This record gives sequence, structure tokens and C-alpha cells, in this order.
Amino acid sequence: MDTLNHVRIETLSGVMAITLTRPQKKNALTTAMYQRLLQALELASAESSVHAVLLDAEGGDFCAGNDIADFIVLARSGQSFEHSDAWGFLRALVAFDKPLVAAVRGRAVGIGTTMLLHCDLVYVAENASFSTPFVDLALVPEAASSLLLPARMGHLRAFALFGLGEALDAQAAVDCGLANAALPADDVTPRARAAALALAGKPAEALQATKKLMRDHARMGSVMAAEGREFAQRLLSAEAQAIFQAFMARRAPGA
Ligand code: COA
Repeated sequence: MDTLNHVRIETLSGVMAITLTRPQKKNALTTAMYQRLLQALELASAESSVHAVLLDAEGGDFCAGNDIADFIVLARSGQSFEHSDAWGFLRALVAFDKPLVAAVRGRAVGIGTTMLLHCDLVYVAENASFSTPFVDLALVPEAASSLLLPARMGHLRAFALFGLGEALDAQAAVDCGLANAALPADDVTPRARAAALALAGKPAEALQATKKLMRDHARMGSVMAAEGREFAQRLLSAEAQAIFQAFMARRAPGA
């Protein structure tokens, strides 16, 4: 077991569990966490004894999205979003070749939801909620979610999430194909782990080939490139900066 930068990595019986351990900040993802997540995926891909990956989180909420203080730092640094650690993690996630299983309790915001679009099995708690309030942050969707979310639930429901910032509850997530099952909170990790273990026992090459056949990498890559260019510009905009500062200062924009 190895915990560093609010990410724990442990491998047991062919399953690598990657757990977010920053519950005091609702598991909002920092630059250091993205670096660590990228490292974990690279390790899981390279290590032949790992057959499946379980994504999990400590505390009551799965992930509150990108750390907003880090958005401010990134914008000020002059570094392009497309060269950021967040982007590096997303590219690795989209290209990841082994089965990914997620266990979600509580809120999944922004990338907390869009990363689930790249998971192969998703088990959620009855109290889970999913939101992608990119427009409310003066940003645009990422992780190929502008393609994948409408493909899952249709344009109208996806636009309500992106444009209005509406949240989806656990049952709605199951109904639209974002999650496999909504369960009592205590059952989520055991169920997800059991599924990951079951996958780890399957013929590994056939399983990976099946995942590859089911995912259109070329299309996702070109959508991500377009999203990345737009996201990079939005991140630097005055409206986005004002919203980030307001979140950190706990006040309404303009107040
Ligand atoms: N970035 C940085 N810090 C965050 C964060 C984020 N994305 N999300 C939560 N936090 C921090 C809060 O600032 C707070 O820190 P503090 O205790 O030092 O004040 C702590 O986590 C707890 O969050 P809080 O807002 O008090 O919890 P809540 O239960 O009232 O609300 C959320 C939870 C997730 C609804 C709310 O924190 C939120 O809206 N976060 C931002 C979500 C977001 O827009 N993410 C980016 C998507 S691209």
C-alpha cells in the first residue's frame, strides 16, 4: 500500500485500487494528485499482474472536480491547459487499456463525473449525484464528454447538465447508462471490488481487446483536442477568473 499526494495505490489479487484520500476538500483534484493518478495508470498498464483497476474515494463525496485554487495557479503560470497535469491524466485515462471499475458515493462534480465516462463498470450509492457545471465556471466540457455524455443520455439531458448545471441523481444515472447500479452506500465499494476481481479472473487479452473494440480512440482524441483548445482559452478568460476567485473567497461573483 502506498499513499502519496492524497492518492492511495494498492494492488491485491490482480486488482489495483486507486483511492482519492482528500475527503476534507471533497477529493478535489490537485496538480500533485493528477501526477499521481497518471503514474498509477501507467503502472497499472505496464504491470502484467494487474488485470483491472478500481477507482474509489474516501469520505462522503467521490470528487468535487478540479481544485479551483489550482485552476487559478495554472492560469497565472502561463502554462497551457493542454500541457497541464490534468490534461496528461485525462489522455492516459482515455487511452487506458485495462478494465476500470468505479465506486462512487456522494457528489461527483466536473471531472469527477466525466472520468466515469471512461470507466467500464460504475457502481454508485443511492445518495450519489453527478454534475458537470463547466458553463457555471465559465469553462467548457473536457475528457471527450462533449461527445460521450450526449451519446449516453441524448443531447437534451446532456445539455441540461452542461448548460444549466443540473445534477443527476443515482437512479437517473442508472437509467441513462452512466452507472450500472445504485446501492446502499456501504455496499458500493464491496460490489465494485467484487466486479473488479471477477474481471481480473477473465482471459486478460480477450478482455482488453473487447474494451479496445468498444472505444473509438481516434474520435475521442480529436474531440479532446478541440475541447482542450477551447478549455485553455476559457480558463484564461476574465469571467472564469472572477468565478474562481469568488469560489475561493466564498462570495457571489461581483459581490
Ligand atoms: N476546489 C478547491 N476546493 C474545494 C473544491 C474544489 N473544486 N470543492 C470543495 N473544496 C473545498 C472547499 O473550499 C472547502 O474547503 P474549506 O473547508 O477549507 O473551506 C472544503 O472543500 C469543503 O467544501 P464545502 O464547499 O464546504 O462543502 P459543501 O458540502 O458545502 O459543498 C460542493 C460541496 C462539492 C458542492 C462544493 O464544495 C463545490 O461546489 N465545489 C466546487 C465544485 C466545482 O465547481 N468543481 C469544479 C468542476 S470543473
